[in-house]
Amino acid sequence: MQRRSGMKIMGQLIGLVCPLLPIMLAAVVLGVAGYLCAVFLVILASDGLIQGGLTEPGKLAGILIIMAVLRGVLHYGEQYCNHFIAFKLLAIIRNKVFSALRRLCPAKLESRDKGNLVSMLTSDIELLEVFYAHTISPIVIAVVTSTIMVLFIGRYSIAAGLLALVGYVTVGAVLPLLFGARGGETGMKFRNQFGELNSFILDSLRGLDETIQYGTGEKRMKEMTERSEELGQIQKKLNRFEASQKSVTNLMILLFSFAMLFFMLYLYMNGSVGFEALVVGTASMMSSFGPVVALANLSNNLNQTLACGERVLSLLEENPQTEEVSGMEDIEFRGASVKDIDFTYEEEQILKKYSVELPKGKIIGIHGASGSGKSTLLKLLMRFWDRQAGNISISGKDICQLNTSNLRKMESYVTQETYLFHDSIKNNIAVGRPGASDKEIMEAAKKASVHEFIRELPEGYETQVGELGDTLSGGERQRIGIARAFLHDAPFLLLDEPTSNLDSLNEGIILKSLNEVCKAKTVVLVSHRKSTMNIADTVYEMGDRK
Ligand SMILES: Nc1ncnc2c1ncn2[C@@H]1O[C@H](COP(=O)(O)OP(=O)(O)OP(=O)(O)O)[C@@H](O)[C@H]1O
Ligand SMILES: [Mg+2]
Repeated sequence: MQRRSGMKIMGQLIGLVCPLLPIMLAAVVLGVAGYLCAVFLVILASDGLIQGGLTEPGKLAGILIIMAVLRGVLHYGEQYCNHFIAFKLLAIIRNKVFSALRRLCPAKLESRDKGNLVSMLTSDIELLEVFYAHTISPIVIAVVTSTIMVLFIGRYSIAAGLLALVGYVTVGAVLPLLFGARGGETGMKFRNQFGELNSFILDSLRGLDETIQYGTGEKRMKEMTERSEELGQIQKKLNRFEASQKSVTNLMILLFSFAMLFFMLYLYMNGSVGFEALVVGTASMMSSFGPVVALANLSNNLNQTLACGERVLSLLEENPQTEEVSGMEDIEFRGASVKDIDFTYEEEQILKKYSVELPKGKIIGIHGASGSGKSTLLKLLMRFWDRQAGNISISGKDICQLNTSNLRKMESYVTQETYLFHDSIKNNIAVGRPGASDKEIMEAAKKASVHEFIRELPEGYETQVGELGDTLSGGERQRIGIARAFLHDAPFLLLDEPTSNLDSLNEGIILKSLNEVCKAKTVVLVSHRKSTMNIADTVYEMGDRK
């Protein structure tokens, strides 16, 4: 994927704000007004002191108090608008990302960067909040406020106005860019290391059994300590860096303020400006760095935010392995056929000129060595991936021309690893056909030889799978998966090792059910077990690739 420039990422991210532009505008107006209140609070106070303030102290104090309060209210309004936009946009982006995932999956979830995907779904999107709430409007506010201030000071003397301009640009743009270029790398390193440490801890927790069994606890502990220390070092470096950036920024502000003071003093001595210009001009300069300092603080996070933006935008633009099809005429299942297909995931060719006939009403066994491509064949039949050459057809029609919803309704797929949702057993079976009645669910469970087991659970079908957690055995999960497929009741059943975790008694019951239901169905049965293969009408061997 082509890496895009920071500007382009910002442009695209801002593009998403379009519908919320009026609120963004409100945030900018409120922000500018708020900062101007703060600046003019100082200016009016100093001006008041030298002019009528001392004769009318009550009036001046009143105005100052009102401005101070207004400053707070306006700042609140600005923050409110910004966060409204940010959280609204996060919701919009999450929706977009999830619909992108729906397009890209399941192939996307199988890819090797699953860990990255999870971190993107959680922390990357969250970090974009910084961009929307604390990046866009501060930049606009800083530009607008600084321009107003340059004009305001420039009223007394153009040269003084230019001096202010140079001051703002230095503090708000030059310094952040200089520091950003150096600090960004450390920031990225910190984030990456932090992510890696998280994965390492998660990995260690998951592999706790193995760690204990093989006595590798100490080694892992040592590695964990090393990683934490390394992270601590980077954090220290980052802190030092931020501190030095802050002090340089403050030093610059001081320098420019003094420069203005001396310059104004020089003009005053010259007689080119009055006493008021000397006081007000200097006070304006001193008190108006707020918005550009806000920009300076941004630069530390900007690189990280842009990296997150880049990852999110790339996902939104990624092309799926298989395009959804709709708008075609729905068809009935009358058998399937796989002809001379070639298939490669990345580099290694998995299937080469592979053919298999799947006539209606038959059980077709697929047998072959581990890694020979049996599960891959089923995924191709499900059209999770598309073959590169050859033809896969259902009822004589190319599966790439079938409505995706039509295809999904025709097929029931039991994967090698059944995934159970954090829900009741009943609902987990009902995944096969949402809205199925209790009776139908029990019927499916009986056929899958899991009904008795469920009935004996403390809360029967209402037992939460989450509560059982890993306490469900592999075979029990597998049977729940098969019950799902029976409930789905599709004419084309794809079973990937449906009996691998079962004892011969349960296997027998399931095979009997399969034999019964299969009079009207077509079954592709992938299995290593001879006893399971016995019920197949035809058995195809899948060659070893090595
Ligand atoms: N998403 C993927 N990306 C890249 N390679 C993959 C992917 N899925 C599977 N493979 C590779 O393709 C080959 C065939 O895998 P497949 O799962 O089809 O084998 P199988 O015949 O079902 O094996 P088993 O009997 O062990 O289940 C394997 O070498 C595997 O490493
Ligand atoms: Mg397999």
